[in-house]
Amino acid sequence: MNPPRSILFLCVANSARSQLAEGLARALLPRSVRVQSAGSAPTRVRPQAIEALAELGIDAREQRSKSVADVDPADIDTVITLCAEQVCPAFLGRAARLHWPIDDPASDDPALCPAELLARFRAARAAIREHLLAFRERHYPREDRPMTNDPETIRQDVRDHYGDVARQGSSCCGGGSCQVPDPTRLGYRDEDLAAAPAGSNLGLGCGNPLGFAALRPGETVLDLGSGAGFDCFLASRKVGPAGRVIGVDMTPDMLQRARADAARHGLGNVEFRLGEIEHLPVADQSVDVVVSNCVVNLSPDQAAVYREVFRVLKPGGRLAIADVVATAPLPEHLRSAAAHSCCVAGAASAEQVRAHLEAAGFTGVRITAHEQSREVVREWLPGSRAEDYVASAYVEAHKPG
Ligand SMILES: C[S@@+](CC[C@H](N)C(=O)[O-])C[C@H]1O[C@@H](n2cnc3c(N)ncnc32)[C@H](O)[C@@H]1O
Repeated sequence: MNPPRSILFLCVANSARSQLAEGLARALLPRSVRVQSAGSAPTRVRPQAIEALAELGIDAREQRSKSVADVDPADIDTVITLCAEQVCPAFLGRAARLHWPIDDPASDDPALCPAELLARFRAARAAIREHLLAFRERHYPREDRPMTNDPETIRQDVRDHYGDVARQGSSCCGGGSCQVPDPTRLGYRDEDLAAAPAGSNLGLGCGNPLGFAALRPGETVLDLGSGAGFDCFLASRKVGPAGRVIGVDMTPDMLQRARADAARHGLGNVEFRLGEIEHLPVADQSVDVVVSNCVVNLSPDQAAVYREVFRVLKPGGRLAIADVVATAPLPEHLRSAAAHSCCVAGAASAEQVRAHLEAAGFTGVRITAHEQSREVVREWLPGSRAEDYVASAYVEAHKPG
């Protein structure tokens, strides 16, 4: 089947479920897909539908409820009905049909308080979103996904991307050669490369945070978004047997690679934990140094990441990360889920990074552009001119003692 290009979401009143589906589909499906919704008895769009979508950064205030009789069947190639307990209106025409039964969140029960009613809309939103993500995965290539403000969708897109990278053993951002780029350009030395397990460097970094983290024997180090473990393995040699390295990553296939290498090389002072950097699976005040390489830009909530880093650092602890920062407003062609996963579209400006760090309580913030940045960034998305809009930078900060 060709990918659906014109979709109608159909339900009884076109006030809740089909409106939620329309808003979500606009945010999640490729921009080229035409999306509309209708019902048998159109009425005003429920304010809870607008509010539930706004919570995901989707503006549905302009959506209008309409009758299925006003939709030309010839314009629609796929109809998705959402009625569960009621009978959906009939739709004539040759469109492909799908049915996602969703319980009606709308209710005129006066006993329901506003919070309970909104909770019903959130549940319907979550159920429709699950269907839509599976539908998107089935029908559209990853690179066509639009940028979204929905944190869970961003994390899922990033996880899908890095799951592929982990399984393939190399990064293929931008459909380039998929070769691991020369790490010495990022500031690593040949002896670093010889010391880490072969295959732990997937060429995903944008600098060398260990080059300025000044790790000392006995320290506890946390690596945010540790990937296949390259920086963790290098850090494990620097902190020695009395020290400890914890890598946190949300992509199971990355952890699998990293854990297998740690076991194979008998690296007892390194461990890898599954988790999100916005909710670190790490105890309060337990870490001396937080490092990271090209990860924070991928987070949908960078302020939360720096708050978490502050929480887990011991008083007097430090942060030493390489990351991508925005140097100019992004053009439309770089506002895509693919450009986000390739460390371009999510970059915050150096001023925003500084503001997040200072709001979290850090002092001594220093953000320094990385010299070979343009050349490195150019290869991530060849031909996109990403290097005119983002650069890699080193970020240093301290938690007061
Ligand atoms: C560009 S790669 C960098 C990997 C590693 N630091 C390196 O230099 O090889 C980004 C990594 O961060 C992980 N990641 C992205 N967003 C994350 C998040 N919100 N929480 C945890 N891990 C995340 C991805 O799964 C991926 O392994």
